[in-house]
Amino acid sequence: MRFENKVVIVTGAAQGIGEAYAKALGAEGASVVVADLNEESGERVAKEIEAAGGTAMFVRTDVSSAESAQAAVARTVEVYGGLDGLVNNAAIYGDMQFDLLISVDWDYYRKFMSVNMDGVLVMTRAAYPAMQQRGAGAIVNQSSTAAYLYSGFYGLAKVGVNGLTHQLAHELGGMKIRVNAIAPGPTDTAATRTQAGGASKELVKGLALKRMGQPEDMVGACLFLLSDEASWVTGQILAVDGGQTFRA
Ligand code: NAI
Repeated sequence: MRFENKVVIVTGAAQGIGEAYAKALGAEGASVVVADLNEESGERVAKEIEAAGGTAMFVRTDVSSAESAQAAVARTVEVYGGLDGLVNNAAIYGDMQFDLLISVDWDYYRKFMSVNMDGVLVMTRAAYPAMQQRGAGAIVNQSSTAAYLYSGFYGLAKVGVNGLTHQLAHELGGMKIRVNAIAPGPTDTAATRTQAGGASKELVKGLALKRMGQPEDMVGACLFLLSDEASWVTGQILAVDGGQTFRA
């Protein structure tokens, strides 16, 4: 019960890896806010956390909108009395368009970056004052090994997420708010099955550990980075990727 009396918002928690984070936090005592665009699935996740004995609510949130982000934080503080943690996991991924940086429709590119990269900053700007009020906080951003591999605008957004992690760690460190990121390798979610299809088998051959990641594989790293066990860890990007990448 590492998160008893803690309040954590998880964006993009209506399915996939975010759902696994939200459920694990609920099981360890946190009051969890499932913040997602997908109302039906988000409500389901919150209900399942409550049915398992946890505390959770769904708040419809668009991470690319400052007003929506602020409203989600305000609702969190109103219902649960404060905010200790934020997991910036939401992204356009499963139904993402395939295109090149040199040809992608400009409006689509702007929309994509406003969610996948700027969404991390929008949510952080909305959330940090409530954490400051508590005297400390922890933020975990969802990056990807795509930041280190050729993957077009998807990877570019994750490079941005890594940069935000480094920069925000310094801007918020004086308030005892830590900012770290997880870079998952290929993980078996419905979104990945849509994106990669049959290519997953080939991907797995290139990993040191010859299997796809599961959402549960990410949970240990996320909860560690949110917890007091990581109280002197900030500005770091932790790859949980079966050995897909390494950096000297
Ligand atoms: P997913 O597509 O299943 O989940 C993304 C969630 O974000 C969905 O519930 C969606 O409704 C929500 N979302 C989209 N736009 C939003 C917005 N504007 N505001 C609020 N919520 C919004 O994806 P999955 O596979 O669970 O991935 C989750 C995160 O992990 C993403 O950031 C993805 O880029 C990252 N990732 C995933 C990997 C994988 O292989 N599945 C590998 C590396 C990183």
